Amino acid sequence: MDILQAFTNYLNAAQSAITEASNAEQLEQVRIEFLGQKKGKLKDLQKLVGTAPPKEKPVVGKKFNEVRNEVQALLEAKLAEVSTTTNQTVSDFDPTLPGQSPQLGGMHPITQTISHFRELMGRFGFDVVEGPEIEDELHNFDALNIPEDHPARDPLDNFYIATAKATAGGPILLRSQTSTVQIRTMESQPPPVRIVSLGRVYRPDTMDATHSCMFHQMEGLMVDRHVTMAQLKTVLSLFARSFLGPDVEIRFRPSFFPFTEPSVEVDMKWGDSWMEIGGAGMVDPNVFKAVGYDPEEVSGFAFGLGIERFCMKHYEVDDIRRFYENDVRFLKQF
Ligand code: DAH
Repeated sequence: MDILQAFTNYLNAAQSAITEASNAEQLEQVRIEFLGQKKGKLKDLQKLVGTAPPKEKPVVGKKFNEVRNEVQALLEAKLAEVSTTTNQTVSDFDPTLPGQSPQLGGMHPITQTISHFRELMGRFGFDVVEGPEIEDELHNFDALNIPEDHPARDPLDNFYIATAKATAGGPILLRSQTSTVQIRTMESQPPPVRIVSLGRVYRPDTMDATHSCMFHQMEGLMVDRHVTMAQLKTVLSLFARSFLGPDVEIRFRPSFFPFTEPSVEVDMKWGDSWMEIGGAGMVDPNVFKAVGYDPEEVSGFAFGLGIERFCMKHYEVDDIRRFYENDVRFLKQF
């Protein structure tokens, strides 16, 4: 190739690459390509210069230097141009201005209460188990000794999802209580049992400050030889005091539940009055029979507590509906 033509080609190519480059990084690439010492276009050009006949060498060598210097100058000029623009941006940046901090999420107060309950009951030696929220009548009622004609089974008091006609195994419903998990646990393991289960339950109640059609319960069950009512009262009193402080007052009132005998209702002092926080009692022998345990061999206690009620007392929340409205101004406090 004609050497002078090669110089022109080199110069033109370098010029347009420099024009196209718009930042220091791209210019560095251009520099490597056109002015690199080890390889690249300049090196190729140099080789070509070496092939020139001896008498032309001084002229060609001079031209080579000129062309290289020109490319170098163009590159430097462009580099100066792009770095002023960059410097301008840098000087507009004020590092002393406060940054935009990201909005941090947090755990819902009910979730926090659930974690806390699990931890406290874990210290008393209770394992945590889970149960399904969609249940059959066997686990929600029958095995819990709740007879066919019991008002708790009224379709108007439950969220039935499908009738017996629609399902092979009988009607299904959203569980109305976590007591279902007592049955599931005992069905799947022999005694002794010491578990709690925390989760959602559903009832078509009218919403007000203390009622919601979805809320959370903590179910507890302890089965072994010689389990007594005194142990039940001790566990519940210790639990309430660990959660709400040593001064909390709780009381037990005689009551009735189909799955416990005797049964109690548990109240907690709330201001000047008592607030019911759950039910408890000694597991009814019929429940043991339904799961294949021998009531002559074992005894047990069970309890079911409303988690929202504890949470309301703990955080001084006066309306249960606040928990489900997802108002960030409310949720931020926890
Ligand atoms: N399942 C009852 C309810 O939802 C609460 C309850 C009472 C649970 C007595 C128990 C218990 O385990 O022994 O109203």
